[in-house]
Amino acid sequence: MKTVTRLLMSMSVIGLLAGCSVTPVKTIENLKAAYNGESTASAKYAAFAEKAKAEGFDTVAVMFLATSKSESIHAGNHLKVLEKLGVKTEGPQIGTFAILSTSENLADAIKGETYEIETMYPGFIAAANEEKTPDAVKSFTWAIDTEKKHQSFYKAALSAITGAGEKNLPVQWAVCPVCGNTYDAATVSEACDFCMTPRAKFITF
Ligand SMILES: [Fe+2]
Ligand SMILES: [Fe+2]
Repeated sequence: MKTVTRLLMSMSVIGLLAGCSVTPVKTIENLKAAYNGESTASAKYAAFAEKAKAEGFDTVAVMFLATSKSESIHAGNHLKVLEKLGVKTEGPQIGTFAILSTSENLADAIKGETYEIETMYPGFIAAANEEKTPDAVKSFTWAIDTEKKHQSFYKAALSAITGAGEKNLPVQWAVCPVCGNTYDAATVSEACDFCMTPRAKFITF
């Protein structure tokens, strides 16, 4: 009987130890997908910026340059979490995308952000919480909170260029280099609302 008890006790100790070092399999997969997705979004918005400039939408072009930078910061943050987890990643793998007119590009950008806000990141955050990977939760949360702002900037830009014109749109942008939070430079806070980085460090466009 004593032997059985001892055996059960040692089994549970092994189980506990194993539990401490369980690989967050799903989260690693999600971090890789988000790294590639954010890298693709960054490349896409840089291309949309060029297209907007060519069409004479200079204000929208600057906005896309700022959001492109923001997405590259998200990609870099996801990559850092992967590296911290000891995962080597090739890439990024940049997906394909179409460059159409600026109003179509804005509609596409709204669609992309909406998918990330409503589907992708909520699922990734839930899995990262389940797999107890707080660094991934933080990186995904900084991204989703920024994407909500991008979505609203794009909606305003789309209604401006299909309506009253660009005159009411922000002319200068600021991006937090740590979390990618994106601001109309005229309404920027003293420190980043998401990560408290001082505004002096923000990148302006
Ligand atoms: Fe975004
Ligand atoms: Fe920030």
